[in-house]
Order: sequence, then structure tokens, then C-alpha cells
Amino acid sequence: MSTYPARLLVVGLLLALPAAGAAEQRPASELTVNYRDVQPILIGRCAKCHAPQGIMGPAPEGYSLVDYASTLAQSERARVVPGSAEASELVRRIRGQARPRMPFDGPPFLAEEEIALIVAWIDQGARDAQGKPAPVPRGARLRLHGRLEANWRLDGLALKITSATRVEDSPQPGDYVQVRGRLLEDGSLLLERIRRR
Ligand code: HEC
Repeated sequence: MSTYPARLLVVGLLLALPAAGAAEQRPASELTVNYRDVQPILIGRCAKCHAPQGIMGPAPEGYSLVDYASTLAQSERARVVPGSAEASELVRRIRGQARPRMPFDGPPFLAEEEIALIVAWIDQGARDAQGKPAPVPRGARLRLHGRLEANWRLDGLALKITSATRVEDSPQPGDYVQVRGRLLEDGSLLLERIRRR
């Protein structure tokens, strides 16, 4: 903890405060988070594996977290969706909504304030080290894991099902599922496939 910048702790504490006291607190949107704030977490806790040559060999799932560009890369699929923590598999993994929870060698997993900081960073547009938000990757491919809720939501994220969606093993609300699809203009996910895991 002591190796992290003091700002991380301040930002993290403010973001992690319970909603009841939130009225007196500065809203998360006033605290501008950029890549420099989250970099020590990603490098310190993730990049030992998520690197082209990590301790497990090539980056797991081909996902490198060694720098800004690789963290936001979406050639295969986006794991970070600037502007939407809910649509970001990276957030789902560090919260444990998607399994296995990250970091893979945890516990310890990330502290609540570290998770809150990464969520704020993504919700604010995943700004680079200079503070410029990343473009929202409309049409990007996503693969997410989580808990299916009523009315086709995945832990709060709206899912769009069409006649073209492959629905396998009749998933029910409460089931842990894997979904694949593409991000739509309105931030919802157009499903190509949903299945129980
Ligand atoms: C000890 C090695 C290790 C560490 C450390 C680690 N990971 Fe992973 N990560 C893995 C492995 C292995 C998988 C594949 C797991 C699976 O799905 O079966 C994975 C998968 C993932 C995925 C899914 C990628 C995709 O394409 O869907 C994300 C996102 C991820 N990790 C993020 C992180 C983050 C963020 C951290 C740090 C907080 C982290 N990982 C730390 C080994 C690690």
C-alpha cells in the first residue's frame, strides 16, 4: 500500500464511501482519474502474468496489461470499454463477478479503493496518461461473464437478444453465464451468443 501514490488512497477512500454519506462527498466525476493513477496497480498486480512473456508464458487469453495501448487493445475483443465499467470484463474479473477472479494469484485481491479507482477510470473514459479520454469502441467485440438477471441484464448491463442470438441451455435469471456480442451505440450489448457456464 505504501508504495502507491497518496492520491490513490484519497481518491479511493472518497469513491469507496457508502452511498448514504455520498451527498457531502465530492462525486467521483469531479475526481479526474487518468492512466497514471491506475498504472501502478496494473503493473504491480497484473503484468507479471499479463505480458508477452509473463510468469505463465505468453499473456493469458492474449491479454497484455503492460501499457496503456495493450490494456485498451480491442483487435480480438475489448476488455476495457471506455465509459462503461459494467461492460468491461477487466472490472468484472477484479470484482469477482467473472470467474476466475483476478489477480489469478489472489487472495489477496485488489482493495476496495483500488477497484473503485479502476471503475472511475473506465467510467470517465479510460483517459490516457495525458488525461485524454479514449474513444468509445462502438461495434467492438465483447466476451463477458456474470450473473444473468431478469429482463436480460448481466449484473445491470442491458443485453439485446434478437432472432439471430444463439441461446444455449436455456439460461435463467440467477445463472452464471458467458455472453459474446458487440457493443451498440446506446451502450447495450447485442448478443451473438449466451450460454450457461
Ligand atoms: C498469476 C497470473 C495472473 C495474474 C497476476 C493476473 N492474471 Fe488475469 N488472467 C490469468 C489467467 C490464467 C487468465 C485466464 C483465466 C480463465 O479465464 O480461465 C486471466 C484472465 C484475465 C482476463 C480475461 C481476459 C479475456 O480475454 O476475457 C482479464 C480481464 C484479466 N485476467 C485481468 C487481470 C487483471 C486486471 C489483473 C490484475 C489485477 C490480473 N488479470 C492478474 C492470470 C493472471
